[in-house]
Amino acid sequence: ERLAVDYVQGILQPTPTCDTWEQIWNFQARPDDLLISTYPKAGTTWTQEIVDLIQNKCDVGRSQRAPTHERFPFIEWKIPTMESGLEQANAMPSPRTLKTHLPIQLLPPSLLEKNCKMIYVARNPKDNMVSYYHFHRMNKALPAPGTWEEYFENFLAGKVCWGSWYDHVKGWWDARHQHRILYLFYEDMKRNPKHEIQKLAEFIGKSLDDKVLDKIVHHTSFDVMKQNPMANYSSVPTEIMNQSISPFMRKGAVGDWKNHFTVAQNERFEDNYRKRMADSSLASRFHF
Ligand code: PPS
Repeated sequence: ERLAVDYVQGILQPTPTCDTWEQIWNFQARPDDLLISTYPKAGTTWTQEIVDLIQNKCDVGRSQRAPTHERFPFIEWKIPTMESGLEQANAMPSPRTLKTHLPIQLLPPSLLEKNCKMIYVARNPKDNMVSYYHFHRMNKALPAPGTWEEYFENFLAGKVCWGSWYDHVKGWWDARHQHRILYLFYEDMKRNPKHEIQKLAEFIGKSLDDKVLDKIVHHTSFDVMKQNPMANYSSVPTEIMNQSISPFMRKGAVGDWKNHFTVAQNERFEDNYRKRMADSSLASRFHF
């Protein structure tokens, strides 16, 4: 009952049809497209809500015009019975804000050629892994995760959809000066949301007064978004996302890995992290 997965240039992907990849790579960006890019479960939905509220000067009613997955075409996403991300994007008037989880080397070239602004959000890998594990449990469009122990090993080996967390965060990090990329961290957004929202507003080119910023902080807090039917994915049919197994808005916290990792897993993780991050200035940016 789970959808198939396939390798695309060595990266496991939940979208199985080959001709669709031709279509994805032929996607025609527009210069005023804004792209929100993340490794899955790194804070996409949160960033989408913030960006929408920045763009409409915190008109909450306007942000509730449609659920997240209709407001932001997910460019590489295609599952039976639903409109694909490409179809949604092509039908959408400008300016569009698009979503992707693609590692930078799989991105449709047009987004880079048109010099589109891109926001990348990275989350510390331990919490990212935990969040992704629970998402696999509840989301029928992804392979079943197996046991936590099995999932842990697959995550470290990069044998999960959208590939290795390491390659993903490093690939986007290395590209950040060549392209118009704002690189953010989930933990910074938790610690000082107003500051990060201000950064996002500047990057998008909107100046917002203090009162509006405070309102955006409130409306994009975890507790408020969890109750927002247009942001909590409750409109996705249970056959695809079964939120009684694990809610989409699960915990929204930093440090939940401590409730999942054994001492041995933590040691194994840290050892692996040191090796895989040794070649990147990004290594010191994650704290856990
Ligand atoms: S997806 O499916 O890749 O688009 O998922 P994504 O939105 O990237 O990640 C979901 C996790 O982000 C948490 N989340 C938030 N955290 C803090 N504040 C806000 N407002 C917020 N909104 C969503 C969500 O709870 C998932 O993390 P976990 O750790 O599983 O709770």
